[in-house]
Amino acid sequence: MPELRETAACLVAQPKGILAADESIATMSKRLQEAGVAASDTTRRDYRELLLTTPKLGTWIAGIIWCDETLRQRLADGTPFPEACADRGIHPGIKVDTGVVPLAFAGGAVVTQGLDGLRNRLTEYRQMGATFAKWRAVLDPGNLPPRAVHANAHALACYAASCQEAGIVPIVEPEVLMDGAHGIDLCQVVTTSALTAVFDELHAMGVDPSGIVLKPNMVIAGTAHQDYTSAAQVAEATVAVLRACVPGAVPGIAFLSGGQSNDQACANLTAINQVAAGSGGVPWRLTFSFGRALVSDALHTWHGDVGAVEAAQQALAANCARAAAASAAGGGAPRDHLLAGATSGARATPGTRNMEAVGA
Ligand code: G3H
Repeated sequence: MPELRETAACLVAQPKGILAADESIATMSKRLQEAGVAASDTTRRDYRELLLTTPKLGTWIAGIIWCDETLRQRLADGTPFPEACADRGIHPGIKVDTGVVPLAFAGGAVVTQGLDGLRNRLTEYRQMGATFAKWRAVLDPGNLPPRAVHANAHALACYAASCQEAGIVPIVEPEVLMDGAHGIDLCQVVTTSALTAVFDELHAMGVDPSGIVLKPNMVIAGTAHQDYTSAAQVAEATVAVLRACVPGAVPGIAFLSGGQSNDQACANLTAINQVAAGSGGVPWRLTFSFGRALVSDALHTWHGDVGAVEAAQQALAANCARAAAASAAGGGAPRDHLLAGATSGARATPGTRNMEAVGA
């Protein structure tokens, strides 16, 4: 699947990352209202247009994830969003999951839905210009029975296989939440378990690892934990988990921000890249697919005021530039050298897990 591999590599090409602007209608409306903006399809469109038309956005951003509503909307000048992205050299992406529901016999743990009708939706999205997609599994470290890990990993793998069949690169996002008082050790255990299950299921479903982008959480303590987690701690734990779980064929890992500020997320991404480079390198690009850590400042600067659009775009550009610099810290990954030593098979070679492309 050369086209998928090319798109996946392009989405994580140094020094770029991915902008997550795919909040559901309900979440986006809530965020607009919190910023003092009346929520409507027009204001949601205006806000997303502000993001997309930020001067030089394509310098730092390789792809933007939209929700269904935005992908079908047009800029004020009549240009459809997917076309406006392509005009700027930015890949248009689409969130295709439909949110979470409680999983049976799982004590309140949830599973992400959206497989029904997915094949037809992917065909339509591809025709509309989408080149990549996103599906987010939500994993609460305080309540995560093994069957919830398994069910979410299986759904992610079914989604990823459907995407590749449709010629769309799947972003595979198993998010271990930062909400809670858990320490970094529990986050490390849970993230390891989640990523192991995800790559086992991807392998079982015939997904080509070189045609995906992994979007995990950083390994970090919960927001209500008593101790602050330093960037060095986050980096050591995150790189250790990735080395143990992620096949070398995956082209890139684009972290979510999970509620971190731009400063914190960028400091952690910088440290992650430095630790990765300082310990012999890793075969994947380590970059960002932040949502709030990129856009929150722009939303609050804008707050619906036409006169504040330029200042809001400057805030977004500054956050994107910081994230791009963090993604290039450490000099980038000596990927070819590391891949040359990797063997095929489901388990790890030194420093990296490997996974054969099945049905690729
Ligand atoms: O699904 C979550 C988003 O794609 C990333 O958002 O960086 O605000 O956690 P976040």
